[in-house]
Formats: sequence, C-alpha cells, structure tokens
Amino acid sequence: MNLKTVSVVGANRGIGLQLIRTFQSRGWHTIGSVRPETLASNDASITDLRATNSDIVQIDYKNETTIKSAADELAEKEVKLDVLINCGGIKVRPLEWHLHEQEDLMERFEVMVVGPFLVTKHFLPLITKDGTGKLIYITSKSGSIGAPDHDGEVIGYRMAKAAANQQVKTLALDFQRDNIPITTLAFEPGFIKTKLTGWWGRVDIEESCNGMVDIIEKLSPEQSGTFVNWKGETIPW
Ligand SMILES: NC(=O)c1ccc[n+]([C@@H]2O[C@H](COP(=O)([O-])OP(=O)(O)OC[C@H]3O[C@@H](n4cnc5c(N)ncnc54)[C@H](OP(=O)(O)O)[C@@H]3O)[C@@H](O)[C@H]2O)c1
Repeated sequence: MNLKTVSVVGANRGIGLQLIRTFQSRGWHTIGSVRPETLASNDASITDLRATNSDIVQIDYKNETTIKSAADELAEKEVKLDVLINCGGIKVRPLEWHLHEQEDLMERFEVMVVGPFLVTKHFLPLITKDGTGKLIYITSKSGSIGAPDHDGEVIGYRMAKAAANQQVKTLALDFQRDNIPITTLAFEPGFIKTKLTGWWGRVDIEESCNGMVDIIEKLSPEQSGTFVNWKGETIPW
C-alpha cells in the first residue's frame, strides 16, 4: 500500500513536531526538517524527532542552498509529497514597536516569508499534481490586518506573518492561472505553549494539531487561498 507523505519544515519541536506525530498516528509517511545548526548541536529536540521514525532532511530557511539540497535529495529518492507544510518560525517579542531593530526585522522576514517562499519554489516539483496536492503555511492570526480583536504590539512578527498570508493568497491565484493543481491554505494554530511563545499559551497542542490535520485531510481545491484556524473558522486577512 502506498502511504500518503507529508513534509514539515521546522519539525523538531513545538507545532511542527506535533504535526509529525499526528500524521504518523494516522498512518502517514512523514519527512521532518531540522536546521543543520540544531542537528549538529545534538539538541534534545532531535531525539524527539528521531523518536517519531520520520525521515529527516536539513533546512535552514535563511540558506537557499540547504533548501535546494533537501529538495534534490528527496527528488533523487523519487519522493512524492501529498502535503508540504511551512511551519518554522521565530521571535514574537519585543512587544513595543520602538524596540524593533533592523537586523531583527530582516531576520523575521528571512525566516517567515522568504524562506517559506524558497521552500515552496524548490519543493514544488515534488508535490503531487493530480489535484490532491496541498501546500500549507502555519502563519498566525497576528498577521491578520482585519481581525476584530487586533490590539497592536509585536509589529515585527505581525508584519512578517501578514506577508506570509499574502504569499498564500497570491500563490493560490497564481497556481490557478498557471494550471498548477495545488491547494494552498494559511493556518492560525491557536495560542500554544511552545519555545516561540516563551511557554505561554491557551490552546492544547494535540487538539490544535488534530484539528489542523483533520482540515488538511479534507481540504478541497475550492478552499485554496483561504485563512482558517485549527477549528476551521475563517480568519479575516
Ligand atoms: N505557538 C503559538 O502560539 C503560535 C501561534 C501562531 C502561530 N505560530 C506559528 O507556528 C509555527 C511553529 O511555531 P512553534 O510555536 O511551534 O515554535 P517553536 O516550538 O519555537 O518551533 C519553531 C520551529 O521553527 C524552526 N525554525 C526556526 N528558525 C528556522 C530557520 N531559520 N529555518 C528552519 N526552521 C527554523 C525551529 O527550529 P530550531 O529548533 O532549530 O530553532 C523550530 O523547529 C511558527 O511559524 C509560529 O509563528 C505559533
């Protein structure tokens, strides 16, 4: 039997790791990415990812060579992806707008906007083109300009996530125009206790990832270019 295959970028901890566990528990073949630096440091999170029995590739969103090498490695093994998930992210804080510095702003865009775009570009040939292939971005409600409860703060993180949302919407339209039958979706996973949030959060990580995987499994092409939370509720762009 041919297992369905998902690749998750940023899979060694937090939401990425839990997505891998959830797909595994549903019988999927999983490929998780780690940053070369983190792999070399023997961080405890690597043991967690290895324990899932995932295949592992090395990707640093800030380094296109790693992205291309990982795509080439999978192409050589003739891997076909049913789902590709851009999940890695960094740095919610500082809260105050005037504490944001050039280097930090640039890094957020490199990691959460440019890197995911390059992964999409280099991994596109690997994604199934029979109309069932899916490209998922874990963005954030923080990137929503129209959210009724938008209360400011974390401007650097918000700007990067808004750009990632625009990427998902624009790719959906461009894929449609170029007859590339891949469905794109942006997710707000909920506020979850992870390293990124400094272990603050309200939503259970297993509940969030179960919800997101339910939605991914049922996702249809008509839903391409939409932005939803882990419960499937539409979030305004
Ligand atoms: N937690 C929340 O409440 C929440 C809410 C909304 C959206 N999100 C989004 O969910 C995604 C996952 O975050 P999380 O909360 O699970 O955080 P996390 O536990 O801190 O995990 C972040 C992941 O991103 C990876 N990463 C960081 N820089 C990277 C780079 N340059 N290249 C490739 N991967 C990189 C990390 O790798 P290392 O371990 O090597 O650093 C780690 O695997 C992020 O996009 C985040 O913005 C989270």
